[in-house]
Amino acid sequence: KEFNVAVVGATGAVGRMMIRVLEERNFPVKNLRLFASERSRGQKLKFRGEEIPVEVLSETPNFKGIDIALFSAGGSRSLEYAPRFAADGAVVVDNSSAWRMDPEVPLVVPEVNPHAVAGYKNKGIIANPNCSTIQMVVPLKPLHDYGRIKRIVVSTYQAVSGAGQKAIDELTAQVRAWCAGETLPEPKAFPHQIAFNCLPHIDVFLDNGYTKEEMKMVNETKKIMEDENIRVTATTVRVPVFFGHAEAVNIETEKKITPEKARELLSNFPGVVVVDDPENKAYPLQIQVAGRDEVFVGRIREDESIESGLNLWIVADNLRKGAATNAVQIAEILAQEYL
Ligand code: A2P
Repeated sequence: KEFNVAVVGATGAVGRMMIRVLEERNFPVKNLRLFASERSRGQKLKFRGEEIPVEVLSETPNFKGIDIALFSAGGSRSLEYAPRFAADGAVVVDNSSAWRMDPEVPLVVPEVNPHAVAGYKNKGIIANPNCSTIQMVVPLKPLHDYGRIKRIVVSTYQAVSGAGQKAIDELTAQVRAWCAGETLPEPKAFPHQIAFNCLPHIDVFLDNGYTKEEMKMVNETKKIMEDENIRVTATTVRVPVFFGHAEAVNIETEKKITPEKARELLSNFPGVVVVDDPENKAYPLQIQVAGRDEVFVGRIREDESIESGLNLWIVADNLRKGAATNAVQIAEILAQEYL
């Protein structure tokens, strides 16, 4: 069976990756439609060797005939258009944060809670979690099932591509100017210079002093793991890396998990690769995992300050497993089991 698929926000960093991942994974696409803003009028993007014209979202009268729509065009477009696509018969897999905490919208990481996909029937919408949350919950799932995670403390080292194409261009322009000995262009995508700098500020600040990105990790983890008792605290940081997010994760468990046991559990879990051989300088690196679909874990060691705790270093490609690949995996479950 083949499906009519749409990518909304097709010209963006994530949208382009969605098109690529659909092709790479041989998703059963009958017809692909691409949507973006007026800025992209007349543009064409390649899919399976064919040039597909980009349609202007706001000028499209209806969305009939689309079976599955992958959205990555920002939260306000998702709020407005996801229900319209759904009303016209599509199932929307939405990469924005707009619908994630809606109790009627499932929030899915296929390795963790694939059964939740069934909840698309409520509103015709499935939410793709935040990139940092996705790569954290995949390896934590087998550890939670084995030893019950009580608390998670996470600090992130997030690539600029998570903030879109303009953020990639901004880091490039700043580095170029610096190397040429010129004055750096004013920051636009970020609140401060990102070249040679780290910014403890992703998304907006909330009343509790945390950023919205940090609270996404707190709230989304509980929803995906289906466990309101897991305590989570996060510090999210933008670093001058183009592709791939890294995370230093500390967990406290009810039952002790030795590093050896953790390596065994992680090695046997789908979508996880253990790279943990410090003697040979082997641990996951952003520049090495870029382009890969798995989540990489290393530096697995005991937290010697408590009875039952572990420290881990978790790295994944934020545009792939953190966004496009996870969305296409959700679409695969829809295609194979529901539509
Ligand atoms: P466009 O390229 O036409 O602006 P990124 O996160 O990399 O910046 O990408 C955002 C994506 O969302 C782009 O494809 C962008 O299209 C799309 N987008 C942004 N605003 C709108 C809009 N008002 N209508 C449709 N698509 C939009």
